[in-house]
Amino acid sequence: MQGHIPRLAPIFILLALSGFVLLIRNITSLELLSFSVIYLQKWNCQTVSTFYQIQNGIYSAFKTLETSLPTEFNHTYCARLGQAPTVEEAREERYLLSSIAWPGPPVQGLPLRLSTDPAQSYFVIRGPAELHVGGQLVVDVHMLNFMGQPKRHGGDFLVARLHSPELGAGVAGRVHDRLDGNYTVLFPLLWAGLVRVEVTMVHPSEAVVVLKRLREEQPDRVYFKSLFRSGFLAETTVCNLCLPFGQQPLCNYTDPQTGEPWYCYKPKMLGCDTRINHSKGGYKKNLLTKYEEQFFQRVRSSTFTPAGYYYHDTWRHFTGIRMHQFNDSWAITQCLKGKIVYMFGDSTVRQWFEYFNAFVPELKEFNLRSPKNVGPYLAVDSRHDILLSYRCHGPPIRFTSVSSSEMHYVANELDRIRGGPDTVVLVGVWSHFSTFPVEVYIRRLRHIRRAVVRLLNREPTTLVAIRTANPQKLDPESSLFNSDWFSLQQDIVLRAMFRGLNVRLLDAWEMSLAHRHPHMLHPPPAIVKSMVDLILSYICPVRKKKRRS
Ligand SMILES: *[C@@H]1O[C@H](CO)[C@@H](O)[C@H](O)[C@H]1NC(C)=O
Ligand SMILES: *[C@@H]1O[C@H](CO)[C@@H](O)[C@H](O)[C@H]1NC(C)=O
Ligand SMILES: *[C@@H]1O[C@H](CO)[C@@H](O)[C@H](O)[C@H]1NC(C)=O
Ligand SMILES: *[C@@H]1O[C@H](CO)[C@@H](O)[C@H](O)[C@H]1NC(C)=O
Ligand SMILES: *[C@@H]1O[C@H](CO)[C@@H](O)[C@H](O)[C@H]1NC(C)=O
Repeated sequence: MQGHIPRLAPIFILLALSGFVLLIRNITSLELLSFSVIYLQKWNCQTVSTFYQIQNGIYSAFKTLETSLPTEFNHTYCARLGQAPTVEEAREERYLLSSIAWPGPPVQGLPLRLSTDPAQSYFVIRGPAELHVGGQLVVDVHMLNFMGQPKRHGGDFLVARLHSPELGAGVAGRVHDRLDGNYTVLFPLLWAGLVRVEVTMVHPSEAVVVLKRLREEQPDRVYFKSLFRSGFLAETTVCNLCLPFGQQPLCNYTDPQTGEPWYCYKPKMLGCDTRINHSKGGYKKNLLTKYEEQFFQRVRSSTFTPAGYYYHDTWRHFTGIRMHQFNDSWAITQCLKGKIVYMFGDSTVRQWFEYFNAFVPELKEFNLRSPKNVGPYLAVDSRHDILLSYRCHGPPIRFTSVSSSEMHYVANELDRIRGGPDTVVLVGVWSHFSTFPVEVYIRRLRHIRRAVVRLLNREPTTLVAIRTANPQKLDPESSLFNSDWFSLQQDIVLRAMFRGLNVRLLDAWEMSLAHRHPHMLHPPPAIVKSMVDLILSYICPVRKKKRRS
């Protein structure tokens, strides 16, 4: 049998800093290859500068803002504000919330020395003893505390990757929490060669408890502001999805179509209709107790049946589509001929617009005088009848200076699209929701989903793709706002909510996790290219050939 993988390769067993290295060989007939296992207690866990330093550095900058912040906050109403879900939606919400239930320490407040220590934890490759392409690798992970004792409960947040840097190959592993301090990680074996196992603890379970608390109790830990202006008068007030009632007058910007809530404190002198723009206010500080801080001193960067894997640095997608490489701009132009591509979402969707715009010289960006990094953006290739647009999603959004006239909800935008076989809709909404209770995210997705269903009902041939979250570079400070744990929880919800619809999923989570590049909120160009290749493969499917190419 011939393939793209060398048939015979030497057998290596190598010790690597990040884990084990095995040799996987293509199986031709029923010939199997046995191997031995090397055991190594090294974790990919970078230690960052202490939390206290970071706290001190930011504290002074925060002080001036303290007075303008709400002092008291009734948090329970935050998620409830806005239209009440129907009975069916409430049932779905309960199901979604139970699907992201996360195990934690049975007892809270135990000393640090009893929490998970990644340096002492280890993993063992279980086997099977004979590995071949098409098989599966099982790894047992054993978590120990700082005293070297086995942990007895689950809830540590682990991610895992199997990769061969020399081959530009990588795939995400599926982590199964056995709830007793042991975890099982499954990797599909998809290529022949030396592979490394890498298991990373993003947070110990003790830190996840803190993140959960913050998500429920401090949804305003990222806050927003708006400028109000009329004539010579200008005032700035704090805004959010929910603000305390009954203390100061509020401006109610609840969206009439979707019912999505948004409030600002009413300016003292100006009316609510003088709102000019919206921007990120800032990040609250001093969110943690001294006790909680301990669990965020080490940080770094689970996935399901893989969506695909990298080989020779190109993403090979598993389900539903044959991946095609769009290496030259001409191929992209050919694919997009006659298409209208709408992109909605956060900056990780904007990256696609930027990629197209930079890579395809025939596309000309139309100058809409939009602020940098905010949009909206428009690019046109009138010769080939191509139109690309990008628009950010509605609040909460941490962009700087979005004009109030440009604060549009994705659902409402979708309702204004006719749709059809030449229309492509790409949506990515995730990162700006990580500081809020999950119900807020569910509600937003529900509105988007309803609009997608309406769009597909009008024009079933419309291509709709939804981008998932991706892991990012974290430090103790940013973890409190952007932890991958928040993203993973949202990711599970998103996948569940769009399951069964005629919508493609762009699995940015796995495409980042499997890649050898370090995790970044804005994935590097190589990953963006893979995503764009996948999008284009959906738009312009390669006709199946009988013979292999
Ligand atoms: C917060 O709001 C909820 C819902 O409106 C209400 O039931 C609860 O009593 C309030 N709590 C406090 C402390 O005001
Ligand atoms: C977890 O792994 C440890 C170390 O191998 C083992 O001693 C222990 O029995 C395991 N726990 C369970 C419940 O399987
Ligand atoms: C804001 O307006 C919406 C829609 O008009 C309404 O349902 C909601 O109760 C209002 N919020 C407050 C706090 O009055
Ligand atoms: C695109 O580029 C990649 C990486 O350089 C290469 O492996 C692949 O064969 C190219 N594909 C096409 C269709 O040119
Ligand atoms: C938005 O408000 C900020 C002040 O908060 C101001 O600097 C900026 O110029 C405003 N942008 C627009 C588009 O009005």
